[in-house]
Amino acid sequence: MTTTVSTPLDVIILAAGKGTRLQSQLPKVLHPLFEQPLLRYVVDAAVPLSPHRIIVVVGHDKERVTEAVEAMATDYPSINFVTVTQEPQQGTGHAVQCVAKAVPDLSPTALLLSGDVPLVTTPDLATLLSAHQQGGHAVTVMGADVPTPTGYGRLLTSQGNLTAIVEEKDASDDERRITQVNAGLYALDTQKTLPLLANLSNSNAQGEWYITDVVALSLQANHTVGSAMLADWHSMQGVNNRADLARCMASLNERHVNAHMANGVTVVSPASTFIGPNVAIGADTMIYPGCFLAGHTTIGPKCTIGPNTRLTHAAIGQKTTITESVITDSAVGDNALVGPFAHIRNGAVLGNQVRLGNFVEVKNTTVGDNTNAAHLAYLGDATVGQQVNIGAGTIIANYDPVRKQKHPTTVGDGAMVGCNSVLVAPVQVGDNACVAAGSVITQPVSDNALAVARAKGKEIPHWVTRQQKAPSQTA
Ligand code: UD1
Ligand code: CA
Repeated sequence: MTTTVSTPLDVIILAAGKGTRLQSQLPKVLHPLFEQPLLRYVVDAAVPLSPHRIIVVVGHDKERVTEAVEAMATDYPSINFVTVTQEPQQGTGHAVQCVAKAVPDLSPTALLLSGDVPLVTTPDLATLLSAHQQGGHAVTVMGADVPTPTGYGRLLTSQGNLTAIVEEKDASDDERRITQVNAGLYALDTQKTLPLLANLSNSNAQGEWYITDVVALSLQANHTVGSAMLADWHSMQGVNNRADLARCMASLNERHVNAHMANGVTVVSPASTFIGPNVAIGADTMIYPGCFLAGHTTIGPKCTIGPNTRLTHAAIGQKTTITESVITDSAVGDNALVGPFAHIRNGAVLGNQVRLGNFVEVKNTTVGDNTNAAHLAYLGDATVGQQVNIGAGTIIANYDPVRKQKHPTTVGDGAMVGCNSVLVAPVQVGDNACVAAGSVITQPVSDNALAVARAKGKEIPHWVTRQQKAPSQTA
């Protein structure tokens, strides 16, 4: 979605706080939902508004937060990312004072966002901006009516108009009963509001300079203020502690699951299914309970996934079934059967109609169409052809512990590798070759040959009878 704003827009994101209540060594805005930091969600929501700059206020552990901002900036080369340091962190109003000092040429319109309000959407921000611009306000506050207002700043109103924001810790009992709260997202007319920042005070319960006081200050200066109320309050959930993180995860997940169901995916148990932001799923695919689908993952139509399956950066074809398995950074073709209890990883590529069964691990290996490894096998750093049968217990011994390196193995089309064989890499098994069960293969096997590499069996007649007649060894 691209939304054009009539005036140049700067976006300011507050991300300097420690997040004390998370009890963590990781700065709050870098805590992940799925694999993305909270801050990334806020940036992603702002980018489609085509801001001139995204200014991130950093402070606590600023090196790590700045590094994360730089990583995000590489994904959006057309946007100018700027970091401003706030040291020490003396409140959200103080953070904006630091921005005003460090960036004297702020655009006339700025969106002020919180790095810990990750579920806000681009349409929410567009609504905030248009309410702001239509009203010509000094500041427009995004708010919502929430079922549990605890922890949020309350919106004080007179005849339906916003008059001030009072923080929970400064609120009277009556004010705490108000359920209309501040989302921590604002649109600012910088020319009207920045001069008022000098009048902020820290005589409040937390001894901090609050940006929320800019509402009352604007009215005192005879400017108008506005509010934009969210239809769905879930978008404004803030993260202050681990319980908030879990709630945001649940809301975000619900959003993703609902979108997939609307596109024709059956999700048998939405509450026990986790689907990340970058997952694409084809219609008529069934997702059974206990699945965690994350990273850049694509699943074709008419697949059956789960129960209890984890896919991360996986590409799955169509009509494929994956049960109780883990697939990471790998691809599986069409009409394949994987699991139960298979582990596919590190760039493995499985063809169409492949069947990988119980306790089979495939790492950095290409497996051709119609190949089976139905039970208990390890295929590592190999190229396995089409219509190959890998017997139960086959191991590719790919690691050379002396040179500390992995060696490659190839298994030709139509080959049959008998049960409990070890293919010691580097080694090649030819097309249509056969490896006898229990062999340890260290030499290349030619096309169409049988390789037997095991001790010859022998029979000892009457051994059991002799044992039975022998005097007991134990006294
Ligand atoms: C803030 C609002 C509250 C609102 C809530 C919404 C204030 C005073 N209160 O409260 O009205 O309901 O957000 O989620 O603004 N930060 C800095 N520098 C600082 C302090 C904070 O950059 O000195 C950043 C934090 O990293 C965070 C954001 O500002 O990303 C909000 O700060 P936080 O302390 O979480 O404010 P709340 O108490 O949640
Ligand atoms: Ca917060």
